[in-house]
Amino acid sequence: MVTVVVGTQWGDEGKGKVIDYLAEKVDIIARYQGGANAGHTVVVKDKKYIFHLIPSGILHPDKICVIGNGVVIDPISLFEEIEFLKKNGIEVEKKLFIAENAHITLPYHKILDQVEDKFRGKGKLGTTGRGIGTTYTDKYSRIGIRVIDFIDDDVFMEKLKIALEVKNYLFKEYYKEEILSPEKIFKDYEFYRREIKKFVVNTSIYLNEALDKGKKILAEGAQGTFLDIDFGTYPFVTASNPIAGGVCTGLGISPKKIEKIIGVAKAYTTRVGMGPFPTEIKDEIGEKLRQIGSEFGATTGRPRRCGWFDAVLVKYACIINGIDELILTKLDVLTGFEKIKIGVAYKYGNEILNNYIFDSKKFSNCEVIYEELDGWKENIENIKDYKDLPKNTKKYIEKIEELTGKKITKISTGSSREQIIER
Ligand code: GDP
Ligand code: IMO
Ligand code: MG
Repeated sequence: MVTVVVGTQWGDEGKGKVIDYLAEKVDIIARYQGGANAGHTVVVKDKKYIFHLIPSGILHPDKICVIGNGVVIDPISLFEEIEFLKKNGIEVEKKLFIAENAHITLPYHKILDQVEDKFRGKGKLGTTGRGIGTTYTDKYSRIGIRVIDFIDDDVFMEKLKIALEVKNYLFKEYYKEEILSPEKIFKDYEFYRREIKKFVVNTSIYLNEALDKGKKILAEGAQGTFLDIDFGTYPFVTASNPIAGGVCTGLGISPKKIEKIIGVAKAYTTRVGMGPFPTEIKDEIGEKLRQIGSEFGATTGRPRRCGWFDAVLVKYACIINGIDELILTKLDVLTGFEKIKIGVAYKYGNEILNNYIFDSKKFSNCEVIYEELDGWKENIENIKDYKDLPKNTKKYIEKIEELTGKKITKISTGSSREQIIER
């Protein structure tokens, strides 16, 4: 049985916290896409962990974590995380498996990601600069380097030379960057190539055998539905498929094995980087949300853009992901707001738009039609029982349920593991 956790907005919905919470009930936690662009925060006993590549279930001593083939792996970032965990008394060996056929992010991917975005001018995406798009580009161009290639001396050198052939031409002739030597990269990555071997397996076989034995798998999505390369606000998206559909190609498991799909939705909306954001609040209310919600990127530290909950978007996310239930996070952040708005439709000229649209001219310039609800003042951070929530808080939750057509089964009211209400 596979349960999928997917972001329903533009990432940073609190997936890390949710995964850590749900990990208790499963055997294996597996990342299926994205790379070190992700920043998933887990807070346990006041200690904060930010995971970029390692699944957010790693803090549970008896669980196995898998980095699937759909993920792009930056070995430097991976071993920084492993080191950090070790320093905090968490051993990852024998608990972490990495797919042989996942692709590796190398220095030229990161440099190219950063210079390409600079050269885009007005078309700048505001990527995380982690070499994500460029690693996936090489994968699809068939000049990528997989983990299994990376750990073999001859194959690695051969593929590195092929990849650098084009990259160095671009660096030298176009971007005026320094060219890279395959020999130097080969040497610089010796440690990573040796160390990563301890974790490498055919994860698709491992996961399918585990399923045959009745083990439970939690598939951890990174980013969110509207950063999806196919369904997001293209081109302001990431280069993978964070939606539930990405689980099968990113882990090598059949769609028939997916039993439940859980959507994580923040009680308001945030977005990092460029791109349209209809419910964005550009005045002091947006700033208040950013400060109270500590809305600064877990990977880049950039301030996140903040806005009201957009029910049109989350409803669409429910449809394309096939979401069974929603988990609402960061509801505590809305405490103290006099009025709280929810985007329920868009208006472009005289046209009322009730659905998410791919027409970027309309989506970037539409007005939002809001429903306004009364806020609440009571502190909700330590409430355990749904019935103890203030009347207006319950009204807000139930309004989101009505607009999305999905049940909210859990409500997160703080960053710690314990701050969650089960319904
Ligand atoms: P992810 O990328 O979806 O895992 O989310 P991030 O970790 O990037 O961002 C979510 C942030 O909100 C982190 O700092 C979390 O510790 C924090 N957080 C998660 N749930 C809650 C919550 O219910 N209330 C508050 N106040 N913070 C939360
Ligand atoms: P988690 O998993 C929020 C955004 C970047 C940029 C766009 C493309 O923590 O929710 P990329 O580096 O992926 O090519 O950048 O996607 N982005 C995220 N925004 N949360 C994330 O991950 C993100 N990963 C990428 O800011 O706008
Ligand atoms: Mg994040």
